[in-house]
Amino acid sequence: MEIIESPEQMQDRSEALRLARHTISLVPTMGYLHEGHLELMRVGKKHSDKLIISIFVNPSQFSPNEDLDQYPRDTAGDLEKAREVGVDVVFLPSAQEMYPEGFQTNVQVKGITEQLCGISRPGHFEGVTTVVAKLFNITKPHMAVFGQKDFQQLTVISQMVMDLNMDIQIVGVPTVRDPDGLATSSRNKFLNEEERISALSLKKSLDLAVEMFRGSERDAGVIQKAIESLILSHPHTEIDYVTLCNPVTLKDIETITDEALLALAVRVGATRLIDNCVLRCDSDKIISKS
Ligand code: PAJ
Repeated sequence: MEIIESPEQMQDRSEALRLARHTISLVPTMGYLHEGHLELMRVGKKHSDKLIISIFVNPSQFSPNEDLDQYPRDTAGDLEKAREVGVDVVFLPSAQEMYPEGFQTNVQVKGITEQLCGISRPGHFEGVTTVVAKLFNITKPHMAVFGQKDFQQLTVISQMVMDLNMDIQIVGVPTVRDPDGLATSSRNKFLNEEERISALSLKKSLDLAVEMFRGSERDAGVIQKAIESLILSHPHTEIDYVTLCNPVTLKDIETITDEALLALAVRVGATRLIDNCVLRCDSDKIISKS
């Protein structure tokens, strides 16, 4: 497994791979790798013959009051995990190399970034699209893999790729969960024992919504209220949002006619967690993806 720190060297390496007719998958990450990340890598590996991952805690997607300095890091452990999955190249740049002095360009997707996490995290998605556009230009992938756990991020990146005619296939992978249902996340390490139990209220909420939907509840407000009281019945929880919206436009919906994204952002203690599922009526069958 190669480890490349310089963007120029990474570009040369990717160019050589392309000239040798290899297909390249990219899995962008901020490190502290967990089973969710590893699943993305397995999918990337299956669909191409060279797998590149990036590990970069991107400062531009954190606002000044967020946890950039506390964000967990474990480069040695990450490299070990990447090696086990069969990653070919790890791109591991420094912030200095990604944002040298004089850097003055941003990529901004409008509209869909103004909902959900965009409300409480202004500027966040601009940081994400800017760094992902840079990572695409540096690693030159044919395909890039993202998790559906960050549903809005996946939607925003797909929109950017479409709008800017980037010749990259975007693949979404279903959320990976611990056996107790909690979506795996680098930030879960901040949860103490009590908070972790409270954190299970997110998955319990998704399950409750599916149950209500199966029971023919279509009023978004009724489902939302039931979820809010379930979450708030757990200690240390504070709701950022519980939203039922159109999975494409991310605009709020009042009545579910066809399908709805149920998206949650909840602070458990000091840790902000997100989760989601899609409620969908398919003829007689009700499908829920989470
Ligand atoms: P990070 O939070 O490290 O996540 C990297 C990728 O892993 C994202 O595509 C995310 O959706 C996916 N992921 C995280 N937890 C998951 C889970 N439980 N199941 C499935 N996929 C999961 O997202 C970012 O980093 C950054 O914003 C990034 C795209 C790298 C840009 O800086």
